[in-house]
Amino acid sequence: MTLEEIYARIWDFLAAAVREEKNPFKLMQAATVGLDGGPNVRTVLLRSVSEQENLLTFHTDLRSPKIAELSREPRIALVGVDPVHNVQIRMSGETRIVRTGQARLNAWRSSPDHDLVVYRTRLAPGTPIGHADDAHHQTQPVPDPDEGLKHFCVVEVRPTRLDWLEHLTVDRQQRARFVRQGDIWLRDWIAP
Ligand SMILES: Cc1cc2nc3c(=O)[nH]c(=O)nc-3n(C[C@H](O)[C@H](O)[C@H](O)COP(=O)(O)O)c2cc1C
Repeated sequence: MTLEEIYARIWDFLAAAVREEKNPFKLMQAATVGLDGGPNVRTVLLRSVSEQENLLTFHTDLRSPKIAELSREPRIALVGVDPVHNVQIRMSGETRIVRTGQARLNAWRSSPDHDLVVYRTRLAPGTPIGHADDAHHQTQPVPDPDEGLKHFCVVEVRPTRLDWLEHLTVDRQQRARFVRQGDIWLRDWIAP
């Protein structure tokens, strides 16, 4: 493959992950800088991808620790892997937390209900509880769906670096790097 083909494939793979239920790149690991300066990583579900806009999104709870972290340091790194085809896609970039506006409302309305239940919990993600079931045994009824909207946000990621690694055979690998400068992507091969 040429560098141009790899670049196109990265975006094609990510776009396919949004559409397909069982795609390995649907779940990405997202790393932030913790409030203590150390790294923090967790799984997020890829929700939208646009090469034209240089944009990816995931959804999260405004109360979750990652929002405090991204509010302080908006840079993020994401990695996904397809273990069957031995492909790794890494990226880093800048985030923007979308707390208001029509795009957020559209994202909320187009999400399946079972996803939205998590935003209706009275306890913020990460709140210490005495027993695993305490998160569900709440003394008051679970708030209605619109209550969940208060906690819902879209995180936009605008990548500035992309990194493709493919293990073609046991002894042959290909690694390509793409660095965004202004509106263009500089591309080169790097040692795996
Ligand atoms: C399969 C799976 C998918 C997940 N998707 C998301 C997601 O899209 N957004 C999200 O905020 N958390 C998601 N989580 C939970 C996070 O990995 C994490 O535990 C939670 O968001 C709290 O992270 P934080 O404490 O770093 O803010 C997912 C977890 C799993 C296991």
